[in-house]
Amino acid sequence: MSDQLPKPPQSRRSAGSHPSTAVLTRGYDPHLSVGSARPAVFRSSTYVFSSPESAERAFEIVTGRDIPAPGETPELIYSRFNHPNAEILEDQIVPLEEGSEWAVVFNSGMAAIMTALMARLAPGDAIVHTVPLYGGTQHLLHRLLEPWGVVCRPVVAGRGQELDDAIRSTPRLKFVLIETPANPTMVMTDIRRAALAAAQVDPRPVVMVDNTFLGPAFQHPMIFGADLVVYSATKYLGGFSDLLAGVVLGADPDLERAIRAHRGLFGNILQPDECWILDGRLPTVSLRMNRQSKNAQRIAESLVRRPEVRKVFYPTLFDDPEQIRVRLAQTDYPGAMIALDLHGGKPAAFEFLRSLKLAHNAVSLGGMETLVCHPKTTTHSGNSPDELAIAGITDGLVRISVGVEDWRDLLRDFEQALDTIHPLATS
Ligand SMILES: Cc1ncc(COP(=O)(O)O)c(C=O)c1O
Repeated sequence: MSDQLPKPPQSRRSAGSHPSTAVLTRGYDPHLSVGSARPAVFRSSTYVFSSPESAERAFEIVTGRDIPAPGETPELIYSRFNHPNAEILEDQIVPLEEGSEWAVVFNSGMAAIMTALMARLAPGDAIVHTVPLYGGTQHLLHRLLEPWGVVCRPVVAGRGQELDDAIRSTPRLKFVLIETPANPTMVMTDIRRAALAAAQVDPRPVVMVDNTFLGPAFQHPMIFGADLVVYSATKYLGGFSDLLAGVVLGADPDLERAIRAHRGLFGNILQPDECWILDGRLPTVSLRMNRQSKNAQRIAESLVRRPEVRKVFYPTLFDDPEQIRVRLAQTDYPGAMIALDLHGGKPAAFEFLRSLKLAHNAVSLGGMETLVCHPKTTTHSGNSPDELAIAGITDGLVRISVGVEDWRDLLRDFEQALDTIHPLATS
């Protein structure tokens, strides 16, 4: 296999600052907000044109009939297409995702995924995707896009050769969609290998990576050849379980134009207030994720020894040499998501959830507080029995999103919950 990947776009670091600096300094001009050191919120639904000619030009660009000339900034039109808080957020988020040149923000992660896919798909086209996927994404592909005529071909995460073969042999392949680590089993997929396989297909499919679990702190898919990176920004980017948002980042200007045009039609842009809140969370995302990942690693390593736990799913605890290689090649730290397969199946899993005193039984992830859920009956309950079996989502599986609390308190909480289920898990 040739090792020729398209050259990653120039790193933002060459612009003279590191991501933690650029996220605070790029894309915001205080003079446009009466000198305010932090952005104002612009709630207007519509914008006054400086002339009818400017209005005509702005519409030519927003509808995709023309592209801006170098240095040209089209005027704002209407907030379903664009607004200042989205522009500021989009500019400020780019430095966090190495290799990206642009970002487009949405009102949820699902909106981001759906809009990116619809920007390129037509009935008869195909998607190759890893499994497991977040339950909503799985549902979107197999219950909505398939009946609409899109072929969605699953490949079990971590099976590199099978993914290569599916990429090479699927007719009209438009997308390779990878979620790594996979929700909820944490199995990792080699992004570089998938991008190399995609590069051998003509026309080349878009390689899109859902980077919600490890990005933007610990994994940068575009430097391994991905074309699009997608986030549920509801999770680590938002960080406080108090907003819904999604982001797509990329470098190809044609993809950006297509995604923006679809967002304008679907009307799923992130609202100004949410953009403003999310923008304020960006400078701390690495700080929060570092703390959460350190907490999770200590907890995961301790829980391995418990007799009630059949298996701990956590990137540094996989002993498969291929998983170890992928982790070392493409991730900086293992992140803060853990899954436990408990002995005793669903009764043990439910009793474990009921017994928690500090951690909450809730779906979602990436917030400051620790959340635990039972994927089979919640986030992944829309999967068919076959899909669950293929993905490895068992009755005894619980998923933990580790927060920023003191890890020793959390560990004590998990240990007392495991003590409670001991009779169920060992009978
Ligand atoms: C990996 C992953 N991708 C996408 C989504 C969807 O994001 P949202 O709930 O913001 O629409 C989720 C939600 O849990 C997720 O875990």
